Amino acid sequence: MKYFVTGGSGFIGSNFIYYMFNKYGSKIKIVNIDKLTYAANNQNLNILPENLNGVNYFFEHVDITDNESMDLLFKKYRPDYVVNFAAETHVDRSIQDPKVFLTSNIYGTQVLMDLCLKYGVKRFHQVSTDEVYGSLENDGYFTEETPVDPSSPYSASKCAADLLCKSYGNTYNLPFTISRCSNNFGPYQFPEKLIPKAILNILRGEKVPLYGDGGNVRDWLYVDDHCEAIDLILHHSENKQIYNIGGNNEWTNFTLIKQLLSRLDDELSNFETQKNDETKFIEYVNDRQGHDRRYAIDSSKIQRELKWRPRAKFEDALDKTVDWYINNRHFYL
Ligand SMILES: NC(=O)c1ccc[n+]([C@@H]2O[C@H](COP(=O)([O-])OP(=O)(O)OC[C@H]3O[C@@H](n4cnc5c(N)ncnc54)[C@H](O)[C@@H]3O)[C@@H](O)[C@H]2O)c1
Repeated sequence: MKYFVTGGSGFIGSNFIYYMFNKYGSKIKIVNIDKLTYAANNQNLNILPENLNGVNYFFEHVDITDNESMDLLFKKYRPDYVVNFAAETHVDRSIQDPKVFLTSNIYGTQVLMDLCLKYGVKRFHQVSTDEVYGSLENDGYFTEETPVDPSSPYSASKCAADLLCKSYGNTYNLPFTISRCSNNFGPYQFPEKLIPKAILNILRGEKVPLYGDGGNVRDWLYVDDHCEAIDLILHHSENKQIYNIGGNNEWTNFTLIKQLLSRLDDELSNFETQKNDETKFIEYVNDRQGHDRRYAIDSSKIQRELKWRPRAKFEDALDKTVDWYINNRHFYL
């Protein structure tokens, strides 16, 4: 089986490539297509076994919005599956400058889908986000039937791509699936996102910035669990299905930072303050415009239909993640 993995040099894409080779080894071929934006890291796939290179694993430095170059790649490799991780992903950047979000996230998806139709790809999988649903108050969960209600240009662009996907299914019979996942954590994430930013700031002896009152709630999922869900959807779900993926693991940003600080005890000596007063390591900053208060995912559909469950224990996965950033700080500092 041949897979196109777009955005494979970013956070989740690189974890997905490791996941797939760990599971299927040399039975599969993966072509990682990435524009290598600031969020990508060339070193992310450094520890792939040498013998896969050029035989089972290929890298193509291409922008998915470049229709001509993408057409040549489809012609050259003839993929069975296309998994689209490629996107601009940082909400704050989308608020500053939405244009590239619309180009990569919407137009890029269209280019891929047109080529999937042209070359008869078995399945196009769109990696989407729970952010398309907007914000929840204290109660309730997003289901796949929750109306979309995006708050930021980022989530609006992901939402538009999802709708375009559905339209390609209805109009052209494109075989597609969509997954909408909650916040991921794990290795290889660019440190503008909360968890790596917090860890690396502490390693640098800097405070952790926290939006508003720190009370925004996110449902955190270890990245390998997301990868497993996508693998199951690709191979075991019917076409035209949307699946929510979540960890049932809600934390306020403040409690999450407290948990990180408790794992960084040795590093807190960089600060001239009382270790047990976590507020000394946090800097409250003005809230993000349109900041969604709470995301919480009902993932019962994928649990029921595909027998998926989050496997990682949150505390262990967070330990592992903190250790990874400590040991790989040279990637970022
Ligand atoms: N990180 C999360 O918590 C999360 C949660 C749910 C869904 N998602 C979705 O998962 C996907 C991957 O997210 P991530 O956190 O790994 O993002 P990331 O920002 O770490 O990586 C994105 C990758 O896409 C590449 N890219 C961007 N524009 C491109 C283009 N035009 N052509 C080719 N490559 C391009 C970048 O170079 C980068 O390698 C995104 O679609 C995102 O919306 C992320």
